[in-house]
Amino acid sequence: MTRLAGKNALVTGGARGIGRAIVEAFVREGAKVAVADLLADQAEETAAALGDAAMAVEMNVTDAASIASGVAAVEAKWGGIDILVNNAGVFDMAPIAEITPEMYRRQFDVNVGGTIFVTQKVVEGMKTRGKGGAIINFSSQAGRRGEPNIILYCSTKAAVISITQSMALEFAKDKIRVNAIAPGVIDTPMWDVVDGLFAKYDHLPKGEKKKQVGLAVPLGHMGSPDEIADPVVFLASDDARYVTAQTLNVDGGNWMS
Ligand SMILES: NC(=O)c1ccc[n+]([C@@H]2O[C@H](COP(=O)([O-])OP(=O)(O)OC[C@H]3O[C@@H](n4cnc5c(N)ncnc54)[C@H](O)[C@@H]3O)[C@@H](O)[C@H]2O)c1
Repeated sequence: MTRLAGKNALVTGGARGIGRAIVEAFVREGAKVAVADLLADQAEETAAALGDAAMAVEMNVTDAASIASGVAAVEAKWGGIDILVNNAGVFDMAPIAEITPEMYRRQFDVNVGGTIFVTQKVVEGMKTRGKGGAIINFSSQAGRRGEPNIILYCSTKAAVISITQSMALEFAKDKIRVNAIAPGVIDTPMWDVVDGLFAKYDHLPKGEKKKQVGLAVPLGHMGSPDEIADPVVFLASDDARYVTAQTLNVDGGNWMS
């Protein structure tokens, strides 16, 4: 169980939900992990529970100065970053008549811009060290097809699939692999937001959408954060040394490709 021994990782959005499960799985596999999140207190708490193998970094993935200082802090402490997980993301939904420029910018700045600009900074160091690396981006089953009232989130997650392909081709010569995960419905704090918005727009009782989506999964249940973290470990490890430019569906069978 030490597939990531000797590796240093940075996980954005690592304070809770899927990100936290990835941080914990990476540490179990022998890595040191920087928990980078807007939620500074929760990032500290997640890192503190893991002792010397983890450090907390307050980072806003939409802010260039915050990205630069967070990445610099990790490089200064551990000498470099071998694995980057661009997991930070936000969900929102509304019919097109209610979409505002602010909603558009927030979704794209976090889900798309965050993926691009954190990668830009981390790859600088990976290239300088010349030891290659692994990057895992976060798409979604929502990036595989559109959904009513979810124009913004779906399009950001479709963009992540494309970004993953372009980055993989650009960085291949530097032995930096880039892949993405497309989760299905995963039981995290994000689902409180999702369920509340479906209650509003689809006129459902609170909790109903969450129940429905779990029952509709071919494997019969909503995913747990651990069920996403394990495939992320695979993509980060040398077991996936010949895998790049791919988006892996991890969704209990919801989407087939
Ligand atoms: N939960 C699901 O069903 C599901 C499905 C498909 C894809 N995803 C994707 O998986 C990823 C993780 O989702 P989750 O369910 O764990 O969500 P979550 O809301 O539980 O956690 C997201 C984390 O990202 C952090 N974050 C948000 N904006 C940030 C910013 N600007 N800078 C730094 N950190 C920021 C939050 O503080 C939080 O800790 C997201 O990219 C999400 O879109 C989730």
